[in-house]
Amino acid sequence: MSRTIIVSNRLPTKVLRTEESLTFQASEGGLATGLGSIYRQEGNVWVGWPGLFVEDANEEAYVREQLRDDSMVPVFLTEPEIRDFYEGFSNSTLWPTFHYFSQYATYEQSHWEAYVAVNEKFCQAVLALAGLEDTIWVHDYQLLLLPAMLRQARPEATIGFFLHIPFPSYELIRVLPWRKELLEGMLGADLLGFHTFGYMRHFLSAVSQLLGFSSQNGQIETGARTVLVDAFPMGIDYERYVQAAASEAAVQHEAVYREALREVRVILSIDRLDYSKGIAQRLRAFELLIQRYPEWREQVSLIMVVVPSRDQVAQYAALKEEIDELVGRINAQYRTITWTPIHYFYRSFPLEELASLYRLAEVALVTPMRDGMNLVAKEFVASKADGRGVLILSERAGAARELSDALIINPTDTGQLAEAMHDALVMPEDEQQLRMGAMQALVRQYNVFAWAKLFMARLAYSKMKQHTLATETLSPPVLEQLREQYQGAGQRLLLLDYDGTLAPFNANPQRAKPDQELLLLLRALAEMPQNRVVIISGRDRQTLEAWLGHLPIDFIAEHGVWLRPAGEEWQLFQTLNNEWMRDIRPILELYVARTAGSFIEDKEYSLVWHYRRADADLGAVRARDLLNHLTFMTSNSDLQVMEGNKVIEIKTAGINKGTAAARWLATYHPDFTLAIGDDRTDEDTFRAMPPEAYTVKVGSTPRSLARFSVASTTDVRRLLRSLL
Ligand code: UDP
Ligand code: G6P
Repeated sequence: MSRTIIVSNRLPTKVLRTEESLTFQASEGGLATGLGSIYRQEGNVWVGWPGLFVEDANEEAYVREQLRDDSMVPVFLTEPEIRDFYEGFSNSTLWPTFHYFSQYATYEQSHWEAYVAVNEKFCQAVLALAGLEDTIWVHDYQLLLLPAMLRQARPEATIGFFLHIPFPSYELIRVLPWRKELLEGMLGADLLGFHTFGYMRHFLSAVSQLLGFSSQNGQIETGARTVLVDAFPMGIDYERYVQAAASEAAVQHEAVYREALREVRVILSIDRLDYSKGIAQRLRAFELLIQRYPEWREQVSLIMVVVPSRDQVAQYAALKEEIDELVGRINAQYRTITWTPIHYFYRSFPLEELASLYRLAEVALVTPMRDGMNLVAKEFVASKADGRGVLILSERAGAARELSDALIINPTDTGQLAEAMHDALVMPEDEQQLRMGAMQALVRQYNVFAWAKLFMARLAYSKMKQHTLATETLSPPVLEQLREQYQGAGQRLLLLDYDGTLAPFNANPQRAKPDQELLLLLRALAEMPQNRVVIISGRDRQTLEAWLGHLPIDFIAEHGVWLRPAGEEWQLFQTLNNEWMRDIRPILELYVARTAGSFIEDKEYSLVWHYRRADADLGAVRARDLLNHLTFMTSNSDLQVMEGNKVIEIKTAGINKGTAAARWLATYHPDFTLAIGDDRTDEDTFRAMPPEAYTVKVGSTPRSLARFSVASTTDVRRLLRSLL
């Protein structure tokens, strides 16, 4: 039976060492609490770190066994791994960078190396466990490299990835020395999920700028595969919080707290200790509230739960001191014998006690500087059975995209935050219920089960799409068949595109010169008496002549405008004129002026606008614009406008690689034909081929006329070598 293997750095259970024994406790943090309810369904398994350094093999075996009963598989990490991978790269490089605190980020090569090694360790743990039919679902920033590592080992596996923290603007990502590797790691998945559309947009932009892969409707063509990207705002196990809040235990705890607090009204905040949570700013805002509105003194207290987290990381330790100091100062200044302004708890609470705090509080303060989602906000909403209570929510928490009936604030605006607290405390009950009711309906419907279901449905869809739309990959059996037919044939025609097929793209087209390996390969192929090798390119004839003219091969240049059988002179496909360039050139010049990095390539009978070196987003926008402009200009002429790989080309209609290739087929009558190409202009070649020809597309664009596909130029060379 197929099942889902969930992989995250931290397991939902953490093992603690007490004096006498080991104890097993629920982990804190949104990932663990959120997914905790879904992983037990349908025989699923969760792979992750149990939060403990084991002392020996016996202890390891014991922990493994205990966790197995609860469908968990531990990955044990050593102290140096925790220091360099967890505290280091994960929480001192990625966490600050992704939360827009890059001033706190460190860039240590040794931390990076540990990150790679631990991702590899997780990869091995998953591979040891996962069957071929299983779905693998990787979670969060600690494991960004894992999808690609798994893909490498299992090319056909179904792999999903979800990021629980924000994905920041490209401007932050570009600072990381390992930015490309990180993105490539993520792209090993079939589906990548983010909490909000904003994070998804930033991711797509980073991929386009750093890796050059463009996307359409959240679909990225990576060369090897199509990867889907989408927004899935994570929910909570709604009923669990409804029930916890209604439980006898929660009601009793609340009664005890209420008695101690007497009539004092409660504002509540609950977070892990983290600089991203805006805890210090919140304390200052609370102080401002009681300064501006002295009438709230002795009437209102802030109950602040801060859960210890990552305390070995310097910034966290420093923040702890800052908070201790602030709470101490504010309490010392304003407290009375009967009233404490801030009740501060630095520890974690079990669910029933959290639920009693949610019940008790009239106002919840969720004011992070940045937060991927923030589940505390949703838990508070779910816990308010009578619909009373006000949520104050930072505009920079992912949850703010959904919970628009909260009082939305900018957490750095202390004045606004103090006013929001005041507004919340005086808000009429019917307005509270109206807002809370709307939020409850939403949080109930889009709960964590709906979230997981939606993700899994999209993952299945992405797999289905890869299978139905992609041309068949050139698998070993197909290759074997191809070679057999090749060897049995007396006259073979090999039609090979150049850029993106025989040689990889270069930002400067003149640098994509053939290397020695390619020259030898082409010569060896062309010197076999049965073979006719044709380079079929969009390039001008001078370049092809200079680079490859000395080889015994045929040429089709400028997309079919110029032809040259081996040993003969260049000839025009048909008589052409190029007077139209006078009108079209100024248009292209305008686009060069408007698009830094783009340039014009002049060929004898065509003009090309190149934008590979321009900013990727700007290039795409300008290309759309230029296409519209040219389509309009050329509507009554015999010109055609063609879109290639980061190029737009204008030339006489009716001549293309396909019409030229057809001439070779007609004069040469091959009994074996192989045509390989990578971009849209090669589709004309594929279209002109007889059905039995082997047509091979390089890269993953789904809608190709080719029968087969390979991932890259490296695969093309491997294929050609196998024909020698
Ligand atoms: N939480 C907990 N014990 C506590 C305090 C909080 O288990 O004593 C849980 C809380 O209920 C919530 C999670 O920790 O589910 C925090 O998730 P959130 O998304 O708000 O923030 P994160 O910690 O993931 O940044
Ligand atoms: C956030 C992260 C999780 C992490 C949790 C607790 O929710 O997104 O990946 O598990 O914080 O942090 P910790 O470092 O204790 O695992």
